[in-house]
Amino acid sequence: MAQYAELIQPGRVHSAVFTSEDIYEAELENIFYRYWMFVAHESEIPQPGDYCTKWIGQKQVIVSRAADGEIGVFFNRCRHRGAAVCMEEYGNASFFRCPYHGWTYNSSGDLVGVPYPSRYGDDFDKSSLGLAKVARVGSVAGFIFASMAEEGPTLAEHLGKAAGYLEDFVKASPLSTVSLSAGTSKSTFWGNWKFVGMDGYHTNFTHKTVLDLRQRKQGASYSRGAGNSDKSSNESWDLGNGHCRLDLTGKDKVAVGSASNTSIAANIPDTDDGREYMRLMTETYGDEAPEVIRRSRDVHIHVWPNLQLIGSQVRVIRSLAAGRTEVMSYPAMLDGVPDSINTERIRSFEWFSGVASFGTPDDTEVFERNQIGLQSDYIPWLVLGRGLTVAPQEDGSLVGNVTDEVPQRAQMQAWLRAMGPESAVDVAVRTEGEAK
Ligand code: FES
Ligand SMILES: [Fe+2]
Repeated sequence: MAQYAELIQPGRVHSAVFTSEDIYEAELENIFYRYWMFVAHESEIPQPGDYCTKWIGQKQVIVSRAADGEIGVFFNRCRHRGAAVCMEEYGNASFFRCPYHGWTYNSSGDLVGVPYPSRYGDDFDKSSLGLAKVARVGSVAGFIFASMAEEGPTLAEHLGKAAGYLEDFVKASPLSTVSLSAGTSKSTFWGNWKFVGMDGYHTNFTHKTVLDLRQRKQGASYSRGAGNSDKSSNESWDLGNGHCRLDLTGKDKVAVGSASNTSIAANIPDTDDGREYMRLMTETYGDEAPEVIRRSRDVHIHVWPNLQLIGSQVRVIRSLAAGRTEVMSYPAMLDGVPDSINTERIRSFEWFSGVASFGTPDDTEVFERNQIGLQSDYIPWLVLGRGLTVAPQEDGSLVGNVTDEVPQRAQMQAWLRAMGPESAVDVAVRTEGEAK
């Protein structure tokens, strides 16, 4: 037996953290069923009666917008004998009728109908048999989070400094809202969920294909891989509570133009739609519009444990087993902009982030190789010591070079706190070279 604290040491982590099924089971209880988990975006259920089914760990939930507009998160389990009452991914309905014996619930989760009720006794109380609710639900910038813990840190406390980046992300829209309405890119891979992190060290190697393509396109002007080296001014951040981000702006804040400036730069097309977009943004944000756009573009954050926002992409991570993970990705559409602006966001998503893109499949391939490698645990330690000496900033954030393992350590520390440093786990910890 070992304590979790023995598995997460300064600068190194034991491979059992990624391979042990016992640890996976403990993660479900200590993280997925306790922390604030991202479940859905409000735009997935815009109208009263809209619902979607999602997962928190192994538990399926229904995220439902009731007739009064209130959002509830319910376990997808009939209170009679437990059948899932809803099997659709998305829909609109006044009622959920269980397929087994016909018990019926409204979109607020109340039990409103039971067939042949005369065979129940007088004490049968429908009002106590509504769909079980996930204890706490909250949302920020349309992102809905749920926590199964009755008590604990509030959503605002949990998100801390990460909340501002959720707000930044949606402000790419002049209405400050986005919609996950363009479809979902779904994938699973044979590897641990914690590999889906924020890693500024891998880019020049894992994403060689992307670099090759960019070089071919941009020719001699392309500074290959410069932003992802130890010489780069790009940064990796630990925001606290496991949240972390990469700052890939190199501090050279790119001018994005303004409504009065016809030389619109940095990916806003110099077209009628591009100019219209800038006009709409200026209408909403005034002189701040270029800065608002820059900040939204620069969002590259992991909201621990299961949500990432990267540029225009929303990515959700679900652990299926120690060595099996599901990833759902969505290109976030901006509300209130010309269509071609969103079309461009979809194209860029398809290019790097989709399941058949040039970027993400290489990440997935590496995650699977990682899982294979970690099974060979004669020497079980992973080295996570890049930038170990980075000192905290005034607000407590740690900021390192982009290739530092600041984000990985941030997540491992949050993980350790959640699991309980002194809790015991069935892992043999030994020194290098010693047989198991
Ligand atoms: S299990 Fe749902 S009505 Fe019986
Ligand atoms: Fe990657």
